[in-house]
Amino acid sequence: MKLCVVGTGYVGLVGAAVFADWGNEVVGVDIDEEKIKKIQSGEMPIYEPGLAEIVLDNIDQGRLTFTTSLAKGMKDADLVFICVGTPQDDKTGAANLSAVLGVAAEIGGNLDGYKVVVTKSTVPVGTNERVKQIVRENAPKGAHFDVASNPEFLREGSSVEDMNVTDRVVIGAESEKAFEKVKSLYDHLNAVIVETDLRSAEMIKYASNSFLATKISFINEMAQICERAGADVSEVAYGMGLDKRVGKYFLRAGIGYGGSCFPKDVAALYKTSTDKAYDFKLLRSVMEVNENQRHYFMDKVTDYFGMNLDGKTIACLGLAFKSNTDDIRESVSIKIVQALRGLGAKIKAYDPKAMENAQGVLGDFGIEYGEGIYEVMKDADGLCLLTEWSQFGELDLERVKQEMKGKVIFDGRNLLDKEAVEKAGFTYFAIGKRTNGGEYGRFEGGSAILKDAS
Ligand code: UGA
Repeated sequence: MKLCVVGTGYVGLVGAAVFADWGNEVVGVDIDEEKIKKIQSGEMPIYEPGLAEIVLDNIDQGRLTFTTSLAKGMKDADLVFICVGTPQDDKTGAANLSAVLGVAAEIGGNLDGYKVVVTKSTVPVGTNERVKQIVRENAPKGAHFDVASNPEFLREGSSVEDMNVTDRVVIGAESEKAFEKVKSLYDHLNAVIVETDLRSAEMIKYASNSFLATKISFINEMAQICERAGADVSEVAYGMGLDKRVGKYFLRAGIGYGGSCFPKDVAALYKTSTDKAYDFKLLRSVMEVNENQRHYFMDKVTDYFGMNLDGKTIACLGLAFKSNTDDIRESVSIKIVQALRGLGAKIKAYDPKAMENAQGVLGDFGIEYGEGIYEVMKDADGLCLLTEWSQFGELDLERVKQEMKGKVIFDGRNLLDKEAVEKAGFTYFAIGKRTNGGEYGRFEGGSAILKDAS
């Protein structure tokens, strides 16, 4: 098939490359000329495992090209994918649709025969109907087209793999012809194809992300109770997750979820609910719990060092919002670094991929960016583990001891083995576990109040 993919961000670039890898003829379109040139020369605008290889390979094979001209990209295409950004509107929490709707108008103006206009960007319920209307308003008289909603479920850091191995493909459309066209692209995958209406397809995406975010906030609140009650949240999550109805994924307690999707999508679904005169109380709590989680982590640091970190050096491992990516959008790790710096600490930071992006946001004031894991620990008073890179879970504790001045570790992702860390002589703070970090009496006040009340 001939495909046109508009937008070369995470969704568009990965989508275009993998569609081409499946044997389709694909044109990627972006208004950013510089970006297009870089991609063509093999320089990826994002770090994504396996992406550069398939982009270059498919360019070589002649199946993948890029252009800044939508008219050229759309010529003879069967499907035109809208994959542009839908950032959060700061004032209302709603998704900003100006890019999506602008592209829809341009697509309309360039229609040259029957096409299916497929929205992959995450858009609130009802948007595909607006896309249809805008395409029609801008299309030549009598132009024939359909719209379809085909949300993506890719995770950053494994998106190339996720395109190829997925549980389901969701297609919302209004005509059999559109269903068939979009379905034929995915037929070879071993996945359930969900055929539904436009609005339900749009909602499936928001419901999925919001549900996963809910699981994370649930386990983060469980962590609070586990710590107070002397249970271990990792053990509890493992035990719960073995029940297939619960599922073992997205039950890792930590410093809260971040990234360009969960915070934005949960807020947007909540906005949709209030727009429809419904207060989605559970989602409100999910967001509130997520905000609190980083303060809960910071409380551990300030309980230990006090509120003034002047003269203290804190080594921070991890700046990306999660592992295997250089993306720092809504990264909780970055927020914690900012909070530590705000209390006067000198920060020594390291991330395997996100240093450059982080430096762009954090600047250099009060922060030294190190070359490696152990380098940033040199003479540090404390160590914070902030992003779940697997290598941070394999620290050589003897080496850590040699490098650091202080002997305290704040593990925001429960990456380390409590017994091993404590045995190595560290004071250890984790999430949702009783550790030797002075925790044993910490919450007794709370239970005393409850006892008094009874
Ligand atoms: C998320 C969804 O997982 C994808 O299915 C979806 O396609 C994507 O959003 C999107 O809408 O485009 P992503 O944002 O790449 O993917 O990252 P996740 O792996 O979902 O992690 C999100 C955040 O939750 C990260 O900050 C991560 O550290 C945190 N997390 C995740 C936890 O704190 N605990 C967990 O158990 C899992």
